[in-house]
Amino acid sequence: MSLPDLTLRPRRLRNSATLRRMVRETTLSVNDLIYPLFVDESISESMDVGSMPGVSRLPLSGVGDAVREVAALGIPGVILFGIPSEKDAIGSEAWNDEGIVQRAIREAKAASPETCVIADSCFCEYTDHGHCGVLHGEDVDNDATLANLQKEAVSYARAGVDIIAPSGMMDGMIGAIRSALDDAGFSNTPIMSYAVKYASGYFGPFRDAADSSPSFGDRASYQMDPANAREALKEAAIDIAEGADILMVKPALAYLDIVAAVKQATDVPMAVYNVSGEYAMVKAAAEKGWIDEKRVVMETMLSFKRAGADLILTYHAKDVARWLNDE
Ligand code: PBG
Ligand code: ZN
Repeated sequence: MSLPDLTLRPRRLRNSATLRRMVRETTLSVNDLIYPLFVDESISESMDVGSMPGVSRLPLSGVGDAVREVAALGIPGVILFGIPSEKDAIGSEAWNDEGIVQRAIREAKAASPETCVIADSCFCEYTDHGHCGVLHGEDVDNDATLANLQKEAVSYARAGVDIIAPSGMMDGMIGAIRSALDDAGFSNTPIMSYAVKYASGYFGPFRDAADSSPSFGDRASYQMDPANAREALKEAAIDIAEGADILMVKPALAYLDIVAAVKQATDVPMAVYNVSGEYAMVKAAAEKGWIDEKRVVMETMLSFKRAGADLILTYHAKDVARWLNDE
């Protein structure tokens, strides 16, 4: 029995930890991470989120410590989600200068001025029906919602936010927010667009965390159909044309083909959102002892980087930072 020609031996470069380190193509750094924070106006003690072990809703008074902890780990940014004590049909608390996110922004910046404070800009946490904008009948009225997004973004900017991150998938949202920020004197405030956001079952645990489930129907008339890839390139191109500084693809893990395609087609930094359902699956399996949490999480983070992500929004960020800092 003859052997094949074995002049080609890829295993040569896997022979020692040092060689593997030298030829490693992709790296993960603490600089890549953004940690989400939920701030609830109605509570005075932090409250665990049942479906997201390790994640809690914070009271306003807990924001400073939370941001200092993140900064001490070397994580450069946080993204804030607010749960207001009052909701109404249009989500007007979202543009109250004394609203929960506006106050949280000021707390965060006071606690750690060098931390990049990002504000998710949407209305589903603020409306009594849980949809991402103003309703017209049973559908979200796109253009009426744009005017509110403008007010919300300018109010966050006045509070001192570093980046605005509109997540509602309204047509024209980036252009509308850009012009409102510019008119209000915030031409240096960047926009990170949730440009490619799918109508996903993976958002389930988040909606518990942020109290943002739609009270009827779903988000399929504004978020993207999971079957569509070309449409992702169209959304990305539109948002860049409207002035987006950073693009996001969301969810991350089930959409790595989309991440790679958007990266290829664009020249702006790209973020991925490793969403609540992805997090919950890993935590649940790890709690059962079925997977090695650290290995699985680090491998997942690397997959985002390999696909082309520059930034990763993840509930694992503090653990990842600790693991990276230990190495
Ligand atoms: C708000 C928003 C959602 C998420 C981020 N911003 C939920 C949704 O669209 O229903 C999901 C984040 C996660 O699942 O971790 N529009
Ligand atoms: Zn929303």
